[in-house]
Amino acid sequence: MTDRQQLYEGKAKVIFEGPEDGTLVQYFKDDATAFNAQKKDVITGKGVLNNYISEHIMQAVEQIGIPTHFLERLNDREQLIRELEIIPVEIVVRNVAAGSICPRLGLEEGSALPNTLVEFCLKDDALGDPIIAAEHITTFGWASADELDVIYDDTLRINDFLTGLFHGIGVRLVDFKLEFGREQREDGVRVILADEISPDNCRLWDAQTNEKMDKDRFRRDLGGLIDAYQEIARRLGVTVPDLA
Ligand code: TMP
Repeated sequence: MTDRQQLYEGKAKVIFEGPEDGTLVQYFKDDATAFNAQKKDVITGKGVLNNYISEHIMQAVEQIGIPTHFLERLNDREQLIRELEIIPVEIVVRNVAAGSICPRLGLEEGSALPNTLVEFCLKDDALGDPIIAAEHITTFGWASADELDVIYDDTLRINDFLTGLFHGIGVRLVDFKLEFGREQREDGVRVILADEISPDNCRLWDAQTNEKMDKDRFRRDLGGLIDAYQEIARRLGVTVPDLA
């Protein structure tokens, strides 16, 4: 893998210390988990695909003026990123009803939502990442009201931009999850986009057939996850090397 000092291991990625102060290295594993890691597998090549796809999307997000932690892809599995203090809140954006909102609110998968929904979950595996209100975030100090404003504005802009980007390649952006963090800078602290944007944390349906092209292929034992991720990369114009 690498001889760098490991700082943190998550379910799909490992974080190592970076070559310079203020940087880290993010390593993409082939591990797939679902339902708070009750379901697990290793899917050879998934990490490489997510590394390349997330690089492409993070760079596109930067180009519309939203700062992210992404600095540079180092190799097939690693990215150089800015060191952040991760805000322990997962931001879920839903354009179409799918996944956990369906049983929670009695909705049918694929049904239209009256408008785009932004939900917040506490990032805490031991508690099963419970859904929370914005008021919990400020009450418990996970983020300030000003930070939450930045997160909300960036999230809606990212949704508009990515909805269009995927529409252009015949894919429906059904929902996705974002994380943000605080970067210490000489001029103060700023909140920027963290983590990854890949088929692991988005629901992506083929616009013609509604075929699932994301991690639901693993969650629901549909098979063909690598083919689907490769097709997303191909449509985005991302060249990914041999996956072994
Ligand atoms: P959900 O329908 O399971 O709540 O998921 C909503 C979106 O968030 C979906 O695109 C998958 C993504 N997601 C993650 O990236 N990580 C998670 O831990 C969960 C629960 C969802």
